[in-house]
Amino acid sequence: MEHSIKQVTAAMIAYDAGDPMRIQHFLKVHAFARLIGVEEGLDEHTQSVLEAAALVHDIGIHPAEAKYGSSAGKYQEELGPAEAEKLLTGLGWPEADIRRISFLVGHHHTYTAIDGPDYQILVEADFLVNLYEDGLPPEAQRHAYETIFQTESGKKLCRELYPAVCE
Ligand SMILES: [Fe+2]
Repeated sequence: MEHSIKQVTAAMIAYDAGDPMRIQHFLKVHAFARLIGVEEGLDEHTQSVLEAAALVHDIGIHPAEAKYGSSAGKYQEELGPAEAEKLLTGLGWPEADIRRISFLVGHHHTYTAIDGPDYQILVEADFLVNLYEDGLPPEAQRHAYETIFQTESGKKLCRELYPAVCE
C-alpha cells in the first residue's frame, strides 16, 4: 500500500503543479495524519485510506476557484469528490476505497458528521496545519482544541505545536 501512497503523492504534486502553497499544505496534512494514524493504531487498510484522503483532501480548491472564483469550504466540498474519484481511478484504487476517500473529501469541512477514525484524524491533521497557516487568533485556536480534537495523539500534537492555547 505504501507504493500506492507514493503514487497519490506524485499525482497530487502534478495536479497542483505551480502552486507550492497548496502542495506544502497537503504534504503537511498527510504527515500529521500518518503520524496520528500510526499512534492511534489504525489497521493497515484504514491507515491507507486516511493517508490517501489527506493527500487529496483539498483537491476541490482549484476547480472551485475556476468555477466560483472562491475556494470556500462548501464549493470545495461540492467539486472535490469527483476530482478525487478521477485521480484515484486513474491510479487503480479499489472502488470501495475511492467511495470512502471521496466522501471524506466532500465532508472535511463538516465537523458534525464524523463517523470514523479516518474522518476524525483527517480533520485533526488539517486543523494542526490550518491553525498555523491561517494565523487564527488564540481564542479560535483554543476553541478548536476544545471542540475538534478527540484523539490522544492529535491533542498531544496540538499542545506541542500551540502550547500557549492548548492546555
Ligand atoms: Fe486542508
